[in-house]
This record gives sequence, C-alpha cells and structure tokens, in this order.
Amino acid sequence: MHVSHLSLADFRSYARAEVPLAPGVTAFVGPNGQGKTNLVEAIGYLATLGSHRVSSDAPLVRMGADRAVVRAAVTQGERQQLVELELNPGRANRARINRSSQVRPRDVLGIVRTVLFAPEDLALVKGEPASSRATPASGAGSWTNWSPPAPRAWRPSAPTTSASSSSATPC
Ligand SMILES: Nc1ncnc2c1ncn2[C@@H]1O[C@H](COP(=O)(O)OP(=O)(O)OP(=O)(O)O)[C@@H](O)[C@H]1O
Ligand SMILES: [Mg+2]
Repeated sequence: MHVSHLSLADFRSYARAEVPLAPGVTAFVGPNGQGKTNLVEAIGYLATLGSHRVSSDAPLVRMGADRAVVRAAVTQGERQQLVELELNPGRANRARINRSSQVRPRDVLGIVRTVLFAPEDLALVKGEPASSRATPASGAGSWTNWSPPAPRAWRPSAPTTSASSSSATPC
C-alpha cells in the first residue's frame, strides 16, 4: 500500500496542507521547525491512533483550533480508500472511511500501515538501560505488544552420586 495523498486541517503547525505523494521513497526537506516531522506524525496517527511524540491528542491540534483533521488517500493495487480522522481533544474522536457515515476510530486501523523510526527511538540503543525497558507511551505506533516470556523457575537438583542422574542436568 502507499499513501497517495495526505490532507491536514489544523494539525500541528498546519492550518491546511495538501500533500500528493508518489509510490517509492519521499524525502521532506526543509529548515528546522518547518513541519517535516508533523507530516510523518500525521501519517503515523492514521496507522496507530497515536503519536510517536506525545501521549495525548491535545498537542496535535493547531494552537488556537479546537479540532484537527487528518485524511489520507490510500492506494493498494487497484483499490483506493479514503480514511479520515477528526481529533477532538476532550471529546470523542471521529472517523470516516470512504466518506461514509461515521465509523469507530479503531475501524481505520490496518488501512494505513507504517513502520516509524524516529530520532526519539535512538534512546533505545543509546540511552540508559532503564529507558530501553520503559513501556512505550500509550498509542505509540512503532511498537508491537510484546512482552518477554515469563522467566522459568529453576532450582538445581540436589547433588547425587548416582550415574543416571547426570542426564537430568537442566540446560
Ligand atoms: N499544536 C501546534 N500548534 C501550532 N504549531 C505547532 C503545534 N505543534 C507543533 N507546532 C510547530 O511545529 C513546528 C515543528 O514541526 P516539526 O517537528 O515537524 O519540524 P521539523 O521540520 O521536523 O523540524 P526539525 O528539522 O527540527 O526536525 C514548530 O514550529 C512548532 O511550533
Ligand atoms: Mg523533525
């Protein structure tokens, strides 16, 4: 799949944005603070219903606005889908697929599929061990729900002189 068009209204620094996107690699180039990561964050939000930078929706709404809209046209082979999320901090978010009547926001999950690697993720490899063990912020999308298997208790068996017991050594 690829996102063929991204539309934003009152998302982060964008009052309005219309961004056509071609298949393949896209690089957003611009000065610091221009809004490059905001675009990536918007696509990530459609994929995960969360931001990789913040754990609540309020900072995603443009300062002074009371809601934000993120909309993407998604192409998969011959199929085109239009997915839309309205972020209403403090109230329920709304979602639409193909301009139909409202669906639940979680119904859009799976339409836009992303893998997001951001500078913040470098803390995983460069930071303190505690930060790499920390639970990701709720809704952060580049994580899957994985937890290590429960440790198995192991107790050495009592030493014995019997020859047959040596094959029971735990590994
Ligand atoms: N809710 C908001 N309302 C208005 N502006 C916002 C909001 N959230 C962030 N911004 C603005 O967005 C800009 C940062 O955008 P972004 O992080 O996408 O920049 P960038 O182009 O990725 O920069 P860099 O090159 O430093 O990574 C800042 O100017 C910030 O003030
Ligand atoms: Mg950035």
